[in-house]
Amino acid sequence: MNGTIQKNHDYKKYIIDSKLQYFKPHASKIEKTFAEEISSSLNRDSKFIAPKFFYDKRGSVLFEKICTLPEYYPTRTEIDILKNLQAELSLFIDESFRLVELGSGASVKTRLLLDVFAQIQKTTEYFPIDISEILTESSEQLLRDYANLRITGIIDTYEGGLEFLKNYDERKNLILFLGSSFGNFSPSAGKNFLGKINSTMKSGDLFLIGLDLVKDSHILESAYNDAQGVTAEFNLNVLSRINDELDADFNLSNFSHHSIYNSGDQRIEMYLKSMVKQSVIISKSNLLLNLEKNELIHTEHSHKYTVEQIRTLLESTGFKINHMWLDDKNYFSLTLVSKN
Ligand code: TRP
Repeated sequence: MNGTIQKNHDYKKYIIDSKLQYFKPHASKIEKTFAEEISSSLNRDSKFIAPKFFYDKRGSVLFEKICTLPEYYPTRTEIDILKNLQAELSLFIDESFRLVELGSGASVKTRLLLDVFAQIQKTTEYFPIDISEILTESSEQLLRDYANLRITGIIDTYEGGLEFLKNYDERKNLILFLGSSFGNFSPSAGKNFLGKINSTMKSGDLFLIGLDLVKDSHILESAYNDAQGVTAEFNLNVLSRINDELDADFNLSNFSHHSIYNSGDQRIEMYLKSMVKQSVIISKSNLLLNLEKNELIHTEHSHKYTVEQIRTLLESTGFKINHMWLDDKNYFSLTLVSKN
């Protein structure tokens, strides 16, 4: 990334030109967190790797590929719903709104929202928040395609990005949280996170959340275990990332992708399974990891909801529901809320 660099407390600000700037936390802060988090999440009986670590450059590219797989219905279904809600959504926004997105990734779906903003506003301000540097590529691409766009990218965690947004200015925000990424939180962490979003919002701000719905378990399971093995590659990629960034010696061929739908807890559970008894050194985390044959490392939950549960969840975390949109098959939902 080239450009002028300014420093503030926690972020470096990179001004690329009059239309594009980025904020990024100091590198030392990110690296330390990764090594420390891995050290504590693997040094225990029930081992896990937090899903935010999936999204290095290669992980982000693989995830974009997942989004186009025939088995992975959430992305195309959400896109269909977004196309259908454009006209209605335009009634909720005006010149005073900016678009903010949590986990913007390649910003494919964002375009459907930017089209709505472009009809209403002379210039549109977009704040993508993403942990992956893929944000810089997608931002440049968006600026090529949308003449009247200004982008401030925040390369940070959701929490960091929301903290950044809070008290940033008086402008109204429409915050997007798409792709059922919310489903990756545990129920209690999810409630806290919604509370955090709520406390970031001013009265008059809007929040649009995309959530996957409960459905037949075969449809769910094949969405997270595709025939081409892209999901497996994506899951395993987190181990290569740990190898590269934390000086570890995971042998990827000793692990397999494992995912199941737990209907009682209404969630897809994803794991990396150790195929053999083995030891792995993770130097920068100061860890010698011992794994039994068939031991599971948990990498992700993807919770599914009923429409009723979504209403209750949002209402109990301080939101007022303005509108909920579903697709024909009731596979996926988009809910627009404001602060109660
Ligand atoms: N938020 C996405 C989901 O729950 C993330 C996701 C899709 C994912 N496929 C995955 C994460 C495979 C890990 C592995 O649907």
